[in-house]
Amino acid sequence: MILNASGCLDALEAPEVARALDVFVTKTVTPQPREGNRPVRIAETDAGMLNSIGLENPGIDGLLEDKLPRLAELGVPLWVSVGGFAASDYARLCALLDDRPEVSAIELNLSCPNVEEAPESAAELVAAARPLTSKTLYAKLSPAATDLPETARAVQAAGADGLTLVNTIRGLALDDQTLQPRLGHELGGYSGPALKPIALAAVYQCYRATGLPIVGTGGIATGRDALEFLAAGASSIALGTILFSDPDAPGRVRRELADEFAARGLSAAEDATGLAHGPRPATVV
Ligand SMILES: Cc1cc2nc3c(=O)[nH]c(=O)nc-3n(C[C@H](O)[C@H](O)[C@H](O)COP(=O)(O)O)c2cc1C
Repeated sequence: MILNASGCLDALEAPEVARALDVFVTKTVTPQPREGNRPVRIAETDAGMLNSIGLENPGIDGLLEDKLPRLAELGVPLWVSVGGFAASDYARLCALLDDRPEVSAIELNLSCPNVEEAPESAAELVAAARPLTSKTLYAKLSPAATDLPETARAVQAAGADGLTLVNTIRGLALDDQTLQPRLGHELGGYSGPALKPIALAAVYQCYRATGLPIVGTGGIATGRDALEFLAAGASSIALGTILFSDPDAPGRVRRELADEFAARGLSAAEDATGLAHGPRPATVV
């Protein structure tokens, strides 16, 4: 499956791009509306992009009353990305989304580098949300965790059905002349090509640690990139920064990935998932 990475596509502004995906993932929604951080909020750098959007969103009421019905008209399965500042926020948002038939899964954003973090651990946030929804729950983790496989195992034990790997990693860009931070928020989340090896490592390690379904994201721009994420252990991939420069990326990456499969005699993503881990041990009977 090809998804967009949360926050990297406005499906209501670009419905034709969203319809080229297998799943549309919303921008992270929070309990209250947020205006986001002060400008400048985007800075290009040599090998990637810095953003400090700060979770600008209409809040859960705005999503449920206005956006969700319009997003459902796209005819693409919807995942809602959920964020908050305490475990109770995640629990409440999941409860509100649980009885909305338009929502096929919930992605818990446990890792935005641009806002203050909830004091609870990722596993505690998942544990708070889990009993409040029967929908599929993906936990989106930061590549900056001290021991990412351990965090992945902990969110699995807390009830996550899958992992999204990875969110952006904190970065800084300075103005050439003034040497002051280029972003209004000073630090931002770093995404794009430079994130790919970091994200691949995260997918590789967490596949081994958990065996959970993984949405791989981080610098994917081509079918070859997508193939590498599948080989590392992802079962789906999400396109982020590439969508800003190439809105046709979903269709193009899908075609390129099909070519990669054909060249290797693979028939489906399931055949590619985990290939980097070598041949599976024979089952002992
Ligand atoms: C402008 C921008 C906004 C983002 N907003 C969100 C967000 O609201 N929630 C979230 O979980 N991730 C957000 N992300 C992170 C992406 O979903 C993705 O994890 C990250 O950019 C890595 O993928 P990429 O290198 O392909 O962009 C955002 C990224 C960018 C560039």
